[in-house]
Amino acid sequence: MKSIGIIGGSGVYSPDFIENTEEVVVKTDFGEVPLIKGVLKGRTVYFLTRHGKRHTVPPHLVNYRANIMALHLMGVERIVATAAVGSINKDFPPGTFVILDQFLDFTKSRVETFFSEGKVVHTDCTDPYCPEISLIIKEAMEQFGYKYHFGGTYVATEGPRFETRAEIKAYGILGGDVVGMTGVPEIVLAKELGMCYASIAVVTNFAAGISKTMLSHGEVIDKMKELNGQIRNILSYVIPKIPDQRHCDCSKAPTSG
Ligand code: HPA
Repeated sequence: MKSIGIIGGSGVYSPDFIENTEEVVVKTDFGEVPLIKGVLKGRTVYFLTRHGKRHTVPPHLVNYRANIMALHLMGVERIVATAAVGSINKDFPPGTFVILDQFLDFTKSRVETFFSEGKVVHTDCTDPYCPEISLIIKEAMEQFGYKYHFGGTYVATEGPRFETRAEIKAYGILGGDVVGMTGVPEIVLAKELGMCYASIAVVTNFAAGISKTMLSHGEVIDKMKELNGQIRNILSYVIPKIPDQRHCDCSKAPTSG
């Protein structure tokens, strides 16, 4: 059975729901990446904390290429990520899970590709999130009776600052449902390597101007702590149910001339 990659975002640092864990440090052309290898309900997983073990790496400085390449080098074809998000859509209050199906990219300074020299690769991103894994995540939500939306548009911002009221208003007009700082280029890089990527966005707050109060990182982390048990339940349900053979088109996304 092929291993599954789990990327834990803000507030998901501890792989204590995974058994037989050991740290493996993977060397990539972009730097070294520490991963936790372990077993979740019989399935081998590689767990990566996006912001580092002690949340020391801000969103704009995450080494996205190294992270995705490290998982790829370990033979991972399928990634399930979590992402703390602010809500732009009043129908998605804090405490809601959103199974993402689209993104809008407003990042500014990140390397978004593995292919800059020598090889021209264009990657299909029409429906970027893996439909097969997303359906299994939906099944988990139904099973546990959690508040969720199947489908939602993620707006990726550069950070590390939160957004202005006007930005959030504009993103809403453009069709954004939730906003976060890390989902892109992570998914794009995974797609460039033909990997599946699905994301469980966890609404921790209403976004700027919708929230009645000022935004803070503490609020995000507190909400994630509150929902940690639910996130573990979801991952423990989803990971062993992911089929070894893929029935999606994710592997066909990258194309070269
Ligand atoms: N904006 C951007 N990123 C976030 C937010 C937000 O309101 N909440 C959690 N991550």
